[in-house]
Amino acid sequence: MPETDLTRLNKYIASNGILSRRKIDDLITQGRVDVNGVTIMELGYKINAAKDKVDVDGQRIKPVTKKIYIMLNKPDSVITSLSDEKRRRTVMDLVKINDKIFPVGRLDYHTTGLLLLTNDGEFANKLMSPKSKIYKTYVVKLSKPLEEKHRLKLTGGVRLEKVKTLPAKIDFITEKDYSNLKISISEGKNRQVRKMFEHYGYFVRALHRSAYAGLKLEKMKFGEWRHLTKDEVEILNSK
Ligand code: URA
Repeated sequence: MPETDLTRLNKYIASNGILSRRKIDDLITQGRVDVNGVTIMELGYKINAAKDKVDVDGQRIKPVTKKIYIMLNKPDSVITSLSDEKRRRTVMDLVKINDKIFPVGRLDYHTTGLLLLTNDGEFANKLMSPKSKIYKTYVVKLSKPLEEKHRLKLTGGVRLEKVKTLPAKIDFITEKDYSNLKISISEGKNRQVRKMFEHYGYFVRALHRSAYAGLKLEKMKFGEWRHLTKDEVEILNSK
């Protein structure tokens, strides 16, 4: 078989699931990955994806044939997770399809708005990577009007848990009420927007993601979802 028809083992696992390549390399070096029943601990090992059988912790990796890309308008009080021990409603309860998909990143339980779901692991990992610098826009309702000195600090970067946030863009929605605004950030740290405002004593009363990497929800209602168009997938793939 020509070398070009072979696929790196970590790439094969990444494109058929939710794990990052780094995590997969750890699994390989820990001896948790088998190819045709033989444990492979060599990073960079190549397989014939058409016929080799790959198991991670004894579970067969099923090759994804049809790639699925979905946009959901996540409602409030829904968890971004495949399942929930506390039996709360998850995003998977809203998107009812037979194929196994997973969310690209996460929105907090009380954050609403644009969430992507896919079965394309490479696509998801790329979008979630801090290197991709994907812009996300959030509509924020604060507990009190944002002061100009804090707006300037937030747009410049705030030190959160010893790491400075990257520059952000803030626009007020109306000239009359400075407690309603839009913020665009190119990072996706856990609860980042809430923490940025909390840092200066503002409580985030409502948080809604209205745009992700140039995609917008437009007129989609809460709980509504749709497949991305081919053009939309191409645009995201080129990021
Ligand atoms: N920032 C937050 O604080 N929460 C989200 O859900 C998304 C971004």
